[in-house]
Amino acid sequence: MKINIRYARGEDAVMLTALSARTFYDAFAANNAPENIKAYMDEAFTLEKVTSELADPLAVFLLVEVDGEPAGYCKLSGDQAPDCITGPSPMEIKRLYVEQKYLGTGVGPALMQSCLDEALSRGHRTIYLGVWERNDRAVAFYLKWGFSKAGEQIFQMGADAQTDWLMERSLL
Ligand SMILES: CC(C)(COP(=O)(O)OP(=O)(O)OC[C@H]1O[C@@H](n2cnc3c(N)ncnc32)[C@H](O)[C@@H]1OP(=O)(O)O)[C@@H](O)C(=O)NCCC(=O)NCCS
Repeated sequence: MKINIRYARGEDAVMLTALSARTFYDAFAANNAPENIKAYMDEAFTLEKVTSELADPLAVFLLVEVDGEPAGYCKLSGDQAPDCITGPSPMEIKRLYVEQKYLGTGVGPALMQSCLDEALSRGHRTIYLGVWERNDRAVAFYLKWGFSKAGEQIFQMGADAQTDWLMERSLL
């Protein structure tokens, strides 16, 4: 299995839109009402939206490929952090998604390591993220990677106001 991680570019928009939608659906469809998933996805994963996110100067997309095929991605952002994130110079992992068939294979850890390297190389000293409190696998993964809970925020999944944990760790 050859894992390669590269920046996603404007020409990846069609592929990234499909990858984003598929991995989001696979991660959350089992534990959410179909109408709430659909409401969120219809807004978040349009080609127009993903194209504009790829062009956002505050955002960085990393794409992971396995044997040349897309296997996951992450989106980092240097936007303003919430107040409960107290570490210096924070960067956010806004999304981190790996295709189901690659869970537990090392693709997720490779992507996380790239997030940490990328944030550090851009001069950040803290990394943080929001994760649904019921996403046990992702929470376990972040704890394993040294993140700890710093606060909570609401994530609106259609009509369902969900509680996300905000988790942070130092990059140093
Ligand atoms: C988050 C993600 C990138 C992590 O990658 P991964 O390949 O699953 O990571 P790992 O297998 O190295 O680590 C997951 C850990 O959770 C554990 N785990 C698996 N299922 C679990 C469950 N139901 N409850 C609790 N822990 C669980 C695994 O055993 C593993 O811990 P271990 O290494 O000590 O055994 C990946 O799971 C993913 O893309 N999930 C779907 C999308 C998603 O939820 N993204 C996060 C949004 S915030």
